[in-house]
Amino acid sequence: MLEITACRAMLAALLLSASCALAACATADTPATTASSDALESARIERGQHLAVTNCSGCHAIGRSGDSRHPMAPPFRQLSRNYHVNELEEAFAEGVLVGHPDMPEFTLSPEDVDSLLSYIQSVQERRGA
Ligand code: HEC
Repeated sequence: MLEITACRAMLAALLLSASCALAACATADTPATTASSDALESARIERGQHLAVTNCSGCHAIGRSGDSRHPMAPPFRQLSRNYHVNELEEAFAEGVLVGHPDMPEFTLSPEDVDSLLSYIQSVQERRGA
């Protein structure tokens, strides 16, 4: 129970910071793309996918289709419905993931977080914008 309460509190904080940041993000969010940064990015995505398969796919649908095995776990491709994906970085870094119910503790290095986020970003459903 304690765990879930802590999780809720962190989620609330996360949502707050996400919605504050959202207004600013529309303009701030245009990464420069060059050939070499593309290559780096695909390497990151690949690594992130591997991490997701290994650590997350037991509960979350991690690809572009399919259902999560855990009924409460949101499919990764839908995370941007609730969060600006960039905002997740902070959440990962601060250990929100450790807070979710049923979820084993992960120790993710900053590189792992980066990779996972790149991967998650790469499978987001494109909606409207
Ligand atoms: C044992 C099951 C399980 C595993 C493994 C798991 N998750 Fe989750 N995850 C959940 C559940 C359940 C929720 C929904 C929590 C809620 O709604 O309170 C969730 C929610 C999330 C959320 C939404 C934010 C939040 O806290 O609600 C993110 C992001 C997330 N998981 C990322 C990951 C990542 C990344 C991995 C792999 C490193 C992972 N999860 C592995 C069960 C799991």
